[in-house]
Amino acid sequence: MAVDPRILQLRRLKEEAAAGGGPDRVARQHEAGKRTARERLALLLDPDSFQEIDALVTHRATAFGMDKSHPLGDGVVTGYGTIDGRLVYVYAQDFTIMGGSLGEAHAAKIQKVQDLALRDGAPVIGLNDSGGARIQEGVAALDGYAGIFLRNVLSSGVIPQISAIMGPCAGGAVYSPALTDFVFMVEGTSRMFITGPDVVRAVMHEDVTPEALGGARVHGTTSGVAHFVEPDEERCLADIRRLLGYLPPNNMEDPPRVTPTDPPGRMDAELDRIVPAEPNRPYDIREVIRRVVDKGSFFEVHEGFAQNIVVGFARLNGRVVGIVANQPAVLAGAIDINASVKGARFVRFCDCFNIPLVTFVDVPGFLPGVAQEHGGIIRHGAQLLYAYCEATVPKLTVITRKAYGGAYIVMNAKTIRGDINYAWPSAEIAVMGPDGAVNIIFRKEIEAAADPEAERARLIQEYRERFANPYVAASRGVIDDVIEPHETRPKLISALEMLQNKRDTNPHKKHANMPL
Ligand code: HXC
Repeated sequence: MAVDPRILQLRRLKEEAAAGGGPDRVARQHEAGKRTARERLALLLDPDSFQEIDALVTHRATAFGMDKSHPLGDGVVTGYGTIDGRLVYVYAQDFTIMGGSLGEAHAAKIQKVQDLALRDGAPVIGLNDSGGARIQEGVAALDGYAGIFLRNVLSSGVIPQISAIMGPCAGGAVYSPALTDFVFMVEGTSRMFITGPDVVRAVMHEDVTPEALGGARVHGTTSGVAHFVEPDEERCLADIRRLLGYLPPNNMEDPPRVTPTDPPGRMDAELDRIVPAEPNRPYDIREVIRRVVDKGSFFEVHEGFAQNIVVGFARLNGRVVGIVANQPAVLAGAIDINASVKGARFVRFCDCFNIPLVTFVDVPGFLPGVAQEHGGIIRHGAQLLYAYCEATVPKLTVITRKAYGGAYIVMNAKTIRGDINYAWPSAEIAVMGPDGAVNIIFRKEIEAAADPEAERARLIQEYRERFANPYVAASRGVIDDVIEPHETRPKLISALEMLQNKRDTNPHKKHANMPL
């Protein structure tokens, strides 16, 4: 029996939509080292799970010859699917149609999935590859962005929002990814900038390549705009899938727990040897993290940016935790502006989405210097302090070595609502390090001594014995227990179980006034 011609017409339309900008433009996209929107979605989502919405939408613009062509889908593929069986909403801009530029209809499609995701409590993932606001559509395009930005903000803290930049993303268009929780970039093909190299040259007389101005590496290391820098699109999409595995679908649910394969009682004797005897010798805090958490579960975020603080997701006995750790191997673990901002953002994300925090402390203080003071370390350091004070999720702390001054407090001290605070025997909890302290409080005695250097050394030793240990803090109960390093994993797992039903709240308010 012949197929109904109306069904044939539908099939033709679907084929036309699926063809994007046609074979030539698809070939150009491939030559540029990029996949098409649909190829990307196929890699991102579980096989055959993608359900497209609005494939037949077209623009309504007429100016500058726009009335002559109405490509189906209007340059963006939208819909929903699953990742590891869990619902996600997606949009992928199609560069093969009008350079993925955003007009009124294109924006309305994105807004529709944003609205559905917020209503249904599911994450939104946006794959960006676009020439920006569609020039021919003028204010209608700008208005489209405005609607997306508003939804980004209203969804913030309710559902996870993830952006991957897989091509150009310029001008005000960068602000949608910037408003989302995590930004992925791909080396060599992603670009993000407010104004491109031509404008920079004309206005600032500076010559810079697109890659040096807004490539993946620069945003992953210098600006901190990108949380993940990926070598290629395949890895990028695989890492988005991995990230989703740590996140709850919305702020009303807990993150997914997996069946643990690493025994909760496992103790790693190597942890007892990891902190060097000399207080100024560095070690890699990642080594501590990896030995404590479930094997292979540590997934670092913002790896290349502000490396003096390490943040990321991990699991303890199958439960998701957010890790924040000073890194003694970089700047001795001192907290600077970038580390504060990086830490604060991560702490706030975890608090929004019911992810308990585990904080490892080895911090000599805030980074001194004119650049830091003039750059606003006071304002920015306050952000990390604020984030920890505000957080009501379970909060565990392990002090491995130094916890000096204000930085001791900032890194989830007991009094800012740390639930369980442990210290290793190597912990030094004091207002400042022995050298600085002795020079201030014993200046006169040192000057008057027959051998000032010997006196200084004696006083440093005395100070160290008196203050540079965890026992004064433990005697006051601001440390719950001093534990042997190899016990850390079972102790943290037990504390997390104890805190399973923790409910803590902040005073009711419209919203707080975080120091920005
Ligand atoms: C309409 C656009 C477009 C745009 C690209 N195209 N950008 N159409 N509006 N913004 C079209 C091109 O005309 C071309 O169509 C096709 O997309 C592919 O573009 P090419 O230039 O051939 O590709 P390529 O050489 O790879 O260069 C890509 C590009 C470049 C770097 C993105 O196209 C470019 O610079 N575009 C303009 C970027 C820009 O300034 N956008 C506005 C940013 S401001 P044909 O038919 O010839 O193939 C902004 C404000 C947002 O977005 C405000 C939010 C508040």
